[in-house]
Amino acid sequence: MENVKEFIATEIEKIKKQINGKAIIALSGGVDSSVCAELAYRAIGDRLYPIFIDTGFMRKNEPEQVKAAFSHMNLQVIDASDRFFTAVKGITDPELKRKAIGETFIKVFEEEAKKIKADYLIQGTIYPDVLESEKGIKAHHNVGGMPEKMEFKGVVEPLYYLYKDDVREVGRELGLCVALSERMPFPGPGLSVRAIGEATREKVAAVREANAIVEEELMEKFKPWQAFAAVIGKGTGIKNDERIHGWIVAVRAVDSDNAMTAEPLNLPFETLIRIQQRITSEIPDVCRVVYDITSKPPGTIEFE
Ligand code: XMP
Repeated sequence: MENVKEFIATEIEKIKKQINGKAIIALSGGVDSSVCAELAYRAIGDRLYPIFIDTGFMRKNEPEQVKAAFSHMNLQVIDASDRFFTAVKGITDPELKRKAIGETFIKVFEEEAKKIKADYLIQGTIYPDVLESEKGIKAHHNVGGMPEKMEFKGVVEPLYYLYKDDVREVGRELGLCVALSERMPFPGPGLSVRAIGEATREKVAAVREANAIVEEELMEKFKPWQAFAAVIGKGTGIKNDERIHGWIVAVRAVDSDNAMTAEPLNLPFETLIRIQQRITSEIPDVCRVVYDITSKPPGTIEFE
């Protein structure tokens, strides 16, 4: 992106021309959809209907943050967590899990689009999503998934050719709240892909707390590209003098330029110990914490 001001002005004009009616966008609370929604709002104002679907796989306090940040728009908040947990019940295969979540998302979104009678769909797809989906590396549920079944006059993807850093620059220029524009990337299927195996409510609740601790301990001080926690299985441990079969939490912190490759952060040992102590003491069912030192490739950033 050569010039951010020019990009914004051009995209706003394009959206104005493309959309003559109502448009919807699925707002996730992540950088891409937030920036995209703000851009579209500048173009079509109240004809934009951002829909925030609470899948139950959101980060800690995320629904509240999104409601506050987008209260100036026609925001629709839908609590669909029961439907999502039912959809992933018994599923342990990562791609099937993504598929179940993607399909449920489309169903819920479709229902809302019908209620609103939206003519256009706006999506916050960015270039790395496109590349990875093309290569078949991962089924990003926000690429090409929605339009197929839904009948819109058109699909608008203003960030299609941008990388994450460009998107953040656009967010800053649009005056988006820092908590959103500077927020690290977060996968479309949310914490479900960090609850390895079956994503039960119980496991996701533990992952949510662990993610919040990792964010608090690492983001400001070390400014990694991405840092998070995942529950990767169960192991034996001792808590309150009793032997338990508790969760194993993996901490991941990586640096990257564009998410296509990544390197683990060389964190001080005392930081890792502090994270371990907080996670095992603040989350009842966790008895073990490990640090992932894998690069991408051969690993991916997420565990699933
Ligand atoms: P991986 O795990 O493939 O992830 O190295 C690369 C980047 O993409 C994020 N990610 C996703 N983002 N929908 C998204 O919008 C998804 O399904 C998805 N899966 C992974 C991941 O967090 C990392 O930043």
